[in-house]
Amino acid sequence: MKNGQRYEPLTVPRRVILGPGPSSANPRVLRAMSLPIIGYLDPAFFEILDEMTGMLGELFRTEQRAFAVAGSGSAGMEAGLVSLAQPGDTVIICSYGYFCERQILMAERLDLNVVALRTEWGKSMDPAVLAEALKEHPETQLVVGIHAETSAGTIHPIAEFARLAHEAGALFMTDVVTSLAGCELEFDAWDLDYAYSGSQKCLAAPPGISPVALSERGLDYIRGRQKLSSSWYLDLSLIADYWGTGHKPHHTAPVSMVYGLREAVAMALNEGLAQRWKRHEANAAALRAGLDALNLEMPVSESDRLDQLTIVRLPVGVDDAKLRTQLLNEYSIEIGRGLGKFAGEVIRIGLMGESCVPANVFALLNALEKTLPEQGFEVGRGAAVAAASAQLARNPSPLYSA
Ligand SMILES: Cc1ncc(COP(=O)(O)O)c(C=O)c1O
Repeated sequence: MKNGQRYEPLTVPRRVILGPGPSSANPRVLRAMSLPIIGYLDPAFFEILDEMTGMLGELFRTEQRAFAVAGSGSAGMEAGLVSLAQPGDTVIICSYGYFCERQILMAERLDLNVVALRTEWGKSMDPAVLAEALKEHPETQLVVGIHAETSAGTIHPIAEFARLAHEAGALFMTDVVTSLAGCELEFDAWDLDYAYSGSQKCLAAPPGISPVALSERGLDYIRGRQKLSSSWYLDLSLIADYWGTGHKPHHTAPVSMVYGLREAVAMALNEGLAQRWKRHEANAAALRAGLDALNLEMPVSESDRLDQLTIVRLPVGVDDAKLRTQLLNEYSIEIGRGLGKFAGEVIRIGLMGESCVPANVFALLNALEKTLPEQGFEVGRGAAVAAASAQLARNPSPLYSA
């Protein structure tokens, strides 16, 4: 303590979080995280892991391995790249956004032979591009493609990517950080080998743990590889062994994060996945109706766009930072900035998990209606909220009561 100064308990502002993640966490999740710590090798903790294995399997729709990597979504990403390919192996990475580029940076650090398949941001990638690349690179060990690209607001045909990868004898790894619990995802039916997610988006838990699913084919590859993965911590087979029936010790599991994830998954399953997807679809449709009424442009086409994350082009004369700061300071609403190629050009509005409710749609539209004219972009007063309300009357959001 310097100069007798006392540190008071931490306080943080209350926010309506409508950015690309994290989203808000439900109090039930936060309460679970304050339960007493027990040991990561305590039989009572193993019971929690065993129950969660089944719950995560339900969430990913898999009968194969489902567990969680300690660390945010990027840890799940790195665990896949370091485990499913070896230095020098050819890895095709489909790239249509900022997080795909992150995968490329990681894979290059791991000395993988990266083939970057770059296609236009804001559009779903045509699988024919991948088919062509696989013909050129028959030696490919792993294909990587993101399901929901949060930087570009796009959804991609990963079932088709997986089919092409397998036809060519490669494994297929995907990123479901923004899609898990927010839209349809079928790990087994789509024959995926590895999918990683994050706790902080449509699952509505705090950031810091990465739920994943791994195929038996992927696990067999890791167990049989000639050279062990260069990361001990992120070796997916070791983490699977800790979560598996033998509970072989690995690192100390983040006990409170596991409690939080357990509770968040329980809430998602209680709500029902189809109902949760519908909630994301209905609220996004209401948001888009309101944004349309404000004459704001949403550059991603209907077939390619996400419900969880809407990209809006900034009107000429409207400053990105000024708009976001004003929303934060005057309305306590957080929205996201554009990343990478889209920096300064778009804003990103997330409606994920706990944050995905009509009240938040109305709050944001009302705030935009007030703030945009102050930057010279005139809007019709009351039109946005009325349009969102009419859209919800036509296509109601299921009540969120998990
Ligand atoms: C699609 C996607 N992948 C990966 C990540 C990285 O996840 P994290 O920030 O949890 O490490 C994000 C984060 O926003 C994301 O949206």
